[in-house]
Order: sequence, then structure tokens, then C-alpha cells
Amino acid sequence: MRIYILSEMSMDGKITSGSNSSSKFFGNYLSEKEMMYIHKKRHNAQAIIVGKKTIDTDNPYLTDRYFGNEKLIRIIPSNSLDFDYSSHIFQDNKKTLIVTSKKNINNPKVDEIKKHGKKVEFIGETKVDFKGLKDYLENKLGLQEVIVEGGGTINSKLLEADVIDGIEILQFPFVVGGEDTPTLVNGKGFGECVFPKFKLENVNVKESFVSLYYSKSNYN
Ligand SMILES: NC(=O)c1ccc[n+]([C@@H]2O[C@H](COP(=O)([O-])OP(=O)(O)OC[C@H]3O[C@@H](n4cnc5c(N)ncnc54)[C@H](OP(=O)(O)O)[C@@H]3O)[C@@H](O)[C@H]2O)c1
Repeated sequence: MRIYILSEMSMDGKITSGSNSSSKFFGNYLSEKEMMYIHKKRHNAQAIIVGKKTIDTDNPYLTDRYFGNEKLIRIIPSNSLDFDYSSHIFQDNKKTLIVTSKKNINNPKVDEIKKHGKKVEFIGETKVDFKGLKDYLENKLGLQEVIVEGGGTINSKLLEADVIDGIEILQFPFVVGGEDTPTLVNGKGFGECVFPKFKLENVNVKESFVSLYYSKSNYN
């Protein structure tokens, strides 16, 4: 199974326009053809992982609107389980899996999520164990391709867990700036000796952005 991060970002690595702001504005720069380019990736995948805060700030649909991949599973890791049930992901009957830790087994919010027609899995003791999640997706669900669509926190946790096989950056030709603006990878950062390393595999120049695909490198 391949898990890769797919992220729109500015020239300076920002993935949104400011702290607590939606990243949906990137869509304003895309032509229909470019939008299809991005959605084709959802068509080829079986699941999309998105952080809970992205659900709160962007309120995404996380569907394959162009090619109709009805089997696409939304996967949202969360410890708080503090969902707003008016979010788009709770407004349809598409497959949605909330992944949380075992400390939430008796949390009444689990029943609330299930009442809204969504599944809950418990992976990890006090927070979601992302190696365990990868194992579950690959071996229990038999998935072959999973896209991680941010934000910066979930990207960092998955990189720390060493479960990311590739990163596709869609880099837009503008600068956002701002100390508190989320970047591709937030979290506590990596020491020089353990920077996750990647190899540039593909460059695709589009009208509005440049796509750079990096695959995980075994060089350390
Ligand atoms: N440009 C792009 O392509 C793009 C894509 C997506 C998002 N974004 C932007 O990114 C920003 C949001 O990023 P963010 O870094 O603030 O948040 P995020 O990565 O979307 O979500 C973070 C949340 O994920 C959950 N989580 C993380 N690790 C966990 C673990 N081990 N176990 C259980 N739950 C865990 C926690 O939820 P709980 O608090 O519920 O426990 C945590 O608060 C938004 O501004 C959005 O617009 C940009």
C-alpha cells in the first residue's frame, strides 16, 4: 500500500492563508482541468486521511466529485471526538471512518458519531498509533492507495510515524507569509540526523501550479 501526502502550498510552504483560515482559496486559482487533475487522484485512491482541525476550518466534502469514486473512504483521526455534526462529512451517507484511541472506548461521543451513520475504530492506547492505522488499512481493509490531505499537524504525525511513502506538492506562485500560518509540516520538527528524506521523482508544470512528486528515499 502507498500512503502519500497531497498538499497545495504557497512558494513559502504555507498551506493556508493564515492561522485558523480555510485553505479553500487555493481552489480559486484552479481551472476546471486542473481541478480534474487533483480529483483524478481521489479517483485512483481508496481512502483520504484528513486531520480533525481541517474538518473544522475547511469543512471539506472529501468526495470525488468529477469521477464518482463512491468507494472512497474518509478517515479522520481525532482524540477529542469533538465533531460539529453539521459538517459536510456528516451530511451524506458516504463511508467515513473516525479513528481514535482506546481511551475513548467508553466515551459517549462514540455513540453520537455512530448515530450519525459513521464508523469508529480504536487504534492506539492514548492517541492514534499511525503505524497501527497503516497496518489496519493495508491488512484489514486491503487498501492499496491512500491520500493524506493535511493539515500540517496530521502530516507531521504521519511523517514522525514513518508511514509516508511520498509527498506531492502543488506549489502555487505566490507568497503567503505569517509566523503562525500552517506549513506543510508543523509539529515539533525533526533533528538534522533524522530529517525524513525524499527523492524528486516527477515534475509537472501546470498553468496555475507546479506539481512536485517526491518518493521516500532510503538514504539517511
Ligand atoms: N493546502 C492544503 O492542501 C491543506 C489541506 C488540508 C488542510 N489545510 C489547512 O491546514 C490547517 C489545519 O491544520 P492543523 O495542523 O491545524 O490541523 P490538522 O492536521 O488538520 O488536524 C489536527 C488534529 O488531528 C487530530 N490528531 C492529530 N494527531 C492525532 C493522534 N495521534 N491521535 C488522534 N488524533 C490526532 C487532532 O484532533 P483532535 O483535536 O480532535 O484530537 C488534532 O487536533 C487548516 O488551516 C487548513 O486550511 C491545508
